[in-house]
Amino acid sequence: MLNEESFIEKIKTRKVKVGIIGLGYVGLPLALEFAESGFYIIGFDVDEKKILILESENTYIKHIPSERISKAIKSDRFKATTDFTKLKEVDAIIICVPTPLNKFREPDISFIEESSKVISQNFRTGQLVVLESSTYPGTTEEIIQPYLENPLNPELSNQKLQVGVDFFLAFSPEREDPNNPDFTTKTIPKVVGGVTKSCLNIAKTLYDQVIVKTVPVSSPRAAEATKLLENIYRSVNIALVNELKMVFERMDIDIWEVIEAAKTKPFGFQAFYPGPGLGGHCIPIDPFYLTWKAREFDINTKFIELAGEINTLQPYYVVNRTIEALNNQNKSIKESNILILGAAYKKNVDDMRESPSLKLIELFLNKGAVVSYNDPFVPKLPPTRHYKYDMESVELTEENLKKFDALVVSTDHDIYDYDFIYQNSNLIIDTRNAFKKNGLVNTKVIKA
Ligand SMILES: NC(=O)c1ccc[n+]([C@@H]2O[C@H](COP(=O)([O-])OP(=O)(O)OC[C@H]3O[C@@H](n4cnc5c(N)ncnc54)[C@H](O)[C@@H]3O)[C@@H](O)[C@H]2O)c1
Repeated sequence: MLNEESFIEKIKTRKVKVGIIGLGYVGLPLALEFAESGFYIIGFDVDEKKILILESENTYIKHIPSERISKAIKSDRFKATTDFTKLKEVDAIIICVPTPLNKFREPDISFIEESSKVISQNFRTGQLVVLESSTYPGTTEEIIQPYLENPLNPELSNQKLQVGVDFFLAFSPEREDPNNPDFTTKTIPKVVGGVTKSCLNIAKTLYDQVIVKTVPVSSPRAAEATKLLENIYRSVNIALVNELKMVFERMDIDIWEVIEAAKTKPFGFQAFYPGPGLGGHCIPIDPFYLTWKAREFDINTKFIELAGEINTLQPYYVVNRTIEALNNQNKSIKESNILILGAAYKKNVDDMRESPSLKLIELFLNKGAVVSYNDPFVPKLPPTRHYKYDMESVELTEENLKKFDALVVSTDHDIYDYDFIYQNSNLIIDTRNAFKKNGLVNTKVIKA
């Protein structure tokens, strides 16, 4: 069995095998990073399709090139499997499974529970387990730790294992920003909190081998809270500029111009931008993990709720602005042809999770409009838990664009030819300042 000293030595000499559970936007790049740094990696996922794609040396994430996967597989340092009994073969296990909200907008930690259970069934002493999924403070110690202290593996049954002695446990939040050219998994500093000092030392040493800088904190709870602070900070600040957008619009002030000017202050101001609503796996979801947990301590998280309220309002605001603009052209929203430009939740990616474009489509359909969308990265709208649209991306031809009564910019992909779109559209509702940024603005472009 590995103890602290032997584990650290084994890490430094690249002799540890690392298992990564959940090969999505977070787990896959992490697995590749470790493999490229000379570690032997087994990636685990319940999705057989993903495993087959990886085995055929291909990718299923647009910004992760197939060549990287092919190279890792050919090097024999990366294998992907649905066979969780292979967890027995690894020394360290990193969990990167989803943490969504359920239909009551409460944390759904069932994926973490499932992973804990399968680890427990295959557990052996001396293993390190690190949770990376964003979650409320306390998850690592309250949910995962009991599964490891009382392993379900029949070979260890009836044994009570001790954290920091018989096994090691830590939390290290993921800070992935998919497709950000300035930062990758390797170059983003990583916060780590261990249950005991040994847990921290081992987990930190492991990440030190692949990440530019690790930031130790006193406990998994401090690390869990750090991730939530980061995302709550974004949610609250985005809500603030969304509110100011609506206020300034009435005053005939351009919020985008104001942000650009404010940004010139060299200290004490960080720019956030308004938009059609929150999207992605993190910002619309993570803050409510804290809201839920705070209730246990008799505290209401008012900032989080207020930010959520304002951000949720944004798609409705965009629809109202569109109705007003059509009205000014003597058109009714009912039976108007509306094109949503951009379906992914942010520019230059194909990620549709919680995308506000889906909400916009719903709201426009409810008003009786005829709705289409274009997104070069999303040829067909995938079904989500809330939405099951049967829609395919329409081509941006001159003829097609002219057919639409209004084009609503939801996601400002760089690939778009804004000049061409501008020339051929009747009316543009711009939630991203895409046209002004491209020097194109007159009464045909309405900000929203
Ligand atoms: N995507 C991001 O930019 C980002 C950034 C920071 C943090 N996070 C957090 O990281 C976590 C993972 O997010 P993601 O974006 O990688 O999600 P994802 O949906 O892209 O990937 C999760 C993967 O886990 C797999 N999975 C589900 N249940 C499983 C199980 N029981 N066992 C094994 N695999 C299972 C899924 O099939 C999927 O491939 C979440 O908690 C998220 O909040 C994500």
